[in-house]
Parts: sequence; structure tokens; C-alpha cells
Amino acid sequence: MLKIAVIGGDGTGPEVVREGLKVLEAVARKDGFQYTTTEFDLSGKAYLARGGDPNKQNIPIVTDEQIAQLRKFDAIYLGAVGDPDIVPGVLELGLLLRLRFELDQYINLRPVKLYPGVPCPLVDKGPADVDFDVIRENTEDLYFGGGGFLRKNTPNEVATQEMIATRFGVDRCLRFAFEFCRRKNKKKQLTLVAKRNVLTYAHDLWWRAFNEMGDAEYPDITRDYNHVDACCMWFVKNPEFYDTIVVPNMFGDIITDLGAMIQGGMGVAAGGNINPQGVSMFEPIGGSAPKYTGKNVINPIAAIASMAMLLRVVGDQKNLPAVRKAGERVEKAITATCPKMKSQSAGKMGYSTTQVGDLICEAL
Ligand code: IPM
Ligand code: MG
Repeated sequence: MLKIAVIGGDGTGPEVVREGLKVLEAVARKDGFQYTTTEFDLSGKAYLARGGDPNKQNIPIVTDEQIAQLRKFDAIYLGAVGDPDIVPGVLELGLLLRLRFELDQYINLRPVKLYPGVPCPLVDKGPADVDFDVIRENTEDLYFGGGGFLRKNTPNEVATQEMIATRFGVDRCLRFAFEFCRRKNKKKQLTLVAKRNVLTYAHDLWWRAFNEMGDAEYPDITRDYNHVDACCMWFVKNPEFYDTIVVPNMFGDIITDLGAMIQGGMGVAAGGNINPQGVSMFEPIGGSAPKYTGKNVINPIAAIASMAMLLRVVGDQKNLPAVRKAGERVEKAITATCPKMKSQSAGKMGYSTTQVGDLICEAL
């Protein structure tokens, strides 16, 4: 029995999650596995209704008890985080980043995959060219929250924001990336993306750890290195070069938005916040799209692809072959459905949100 916690979240989150759950129901029937879903209302609106301050977090957005409950699930399925009535940063820090950190989801796995029939903004590139995986470290770097103000709100104000790389945190991320690349067995090429010509401490640690682990344990994997700025250039010029990328948190955040664009937009970009030893959380990369909320026009493909990833990852993690197979089946249904859609942009798909969900179910 697979136990899934569901956080619809804000804006169009609940709409896309509904389609993901519809696909889950259909595929579970096909592949013969049982599951339960439990909803958690952790939306911004719920926070405000409980007396939450829209400008600064004054009460927990997710409580310690809820986090303790979430730990007991096999996976978390998340829609979107971000409410126009709440100052940016409050929900992001208080919910999304809090869950990633508390549940120690130290990997953010973001495939950059152009599905057939999806228009690519790169001239002369097709599905064979845009198909690689980004493994973003998800708990350290500039994201850990260190820093502070000195003489705040005076003309002599100083602000610091600290970047950390721990050998433990870097090694566990690198190990996941090397193993992932080996199992994928494509080009067996792992690219480290960093900025070691400027970030000569934190990224020197990454560089040494990368080479030491590669030499000692992964001689079968070809190691490659890009400075992050050059990587942005290559994403556009030669995306077919990449197999697997491993990248620190902040640069990973940035390059995966570029990755989402070359794979056809936020409507198709899926992601997973993974704790290989604990509970993982799967979410479309795109935001809550307030202007499309409630209109049944948002693209659910990214959310459905995140469900496919959930099934594959959890199927492997818990050794449930039927669940793993279901994930692959959903992925194939997405591949079959994309060419039928006019566009991957909200409102231009030629179908409503619910109709796209139905098409995927039919294609299963
Ligand atoms: C992402 C988002 C988040 C991040 C924000 C919403 C905190 O941009 O998942 O990429 O920076 O990680
Ligand atoms: Mg981002």
C-alpha cells in the first residue's frame, strides 16, 4: 500500500494536482497496486485564514506536528507555492524550503526532456537533442539561510548572505549523481556545473570531491566540467552534449529554469525533491500562475510528469515493481499525448486542463 500525502498548495496547484491524481487512479487500476492519498491544506489562503501575517511569517505555515505526520508517508505530491496576497518569500521559505530542509530532501532531480511534438525554441533541435538530467543539491549553498544585517536601514548598512559547501553534503549529492548516471547508462558522462574560477573555496571543495570520488569509485563515468555561465551558453547551443549534470543549489535553481524553457516551457517541467533514505516530494517546477487560477486552462503535463517520477522513484526505493512500471506507463502516455496538443502554454493547448488529464488516462 502506497501512502501519498497531497499538498495542492496555491493558485493553479490544486487544478494540476487533481489531474495527476486522476492519472494515478487510472494507472493504479491498470498496474494493480493499492494506494491512499491524504490531503494537507497548506495553502497561503489557509495561512491567512488562521491569522497569518501576509508581510512576515508570524505563525507556522506548516506545523511541527504536520511535518511529523508527513514523515510517515511514502511520498508527497505538491502542486504549487505562491500567493499574490502574501509577500514573496514568506510561503517559499516557510513551506517549500522548510519541507525540503526538514525532510532532508538533499537531491532536486530535474529532467530536461523535450517530448515529441512539443515546440522547442532552439532552432533545429528535437527530442533527441534535448534529453538530459540535472541533479541539483537541495540543502546547502546560498539556501541555508546564513547571513545578516549590520546597521540596517542606515546609510552604512551592511548585508551578508553566506554560501556553504560541506564535504558531507557535497559527497552525498555527488554519489547520487554518479550512481544515477551509471544506472542511466547513456553516455555515462557527468558534468559538474560550478564557478570554480571565482568561488575558489566552496567550489574548490566541489571540484576536489568530484574528482576524488570519480577516480576512486566511478572510473567508468567520464567527468566533465562547465562554468555555470558557459553552461547556459551550451544549453542553447549544444544541449545534445549533456547526459547528467550535478550542480550546487543556487546555480541549479537558475539553470533549471533555462532547462525548462528549452524543453518547451514551465508547463512540462517536472521535478522531485528526493531523500533517498526518507520521504521525497514531487512537484512541477512552475509556479502558482495566479492569473490562470480556476480557469481550467493551465497545463497539467508537468504535474503529471512529476507523478510519473514519484511512481518511478518510490517504486525503486520501496522495491515495488508494479509502481515502477506504472511510472513508466505514465511517461509513455505523456509522450503519446504531447503531439496531440496545439501548444504547451496555458490557454493555448487546444484542450482544457481536465481534457489533457483525460487524454493521458486514455493513452495509458
Ligand atoms: C524552485 C523555486 C524555489 C527555489 C523558490 C520558490 C524558493 O524557484 O523550486 O526552483 O528557489 O528553489
Ligand atoms: Mg527555481
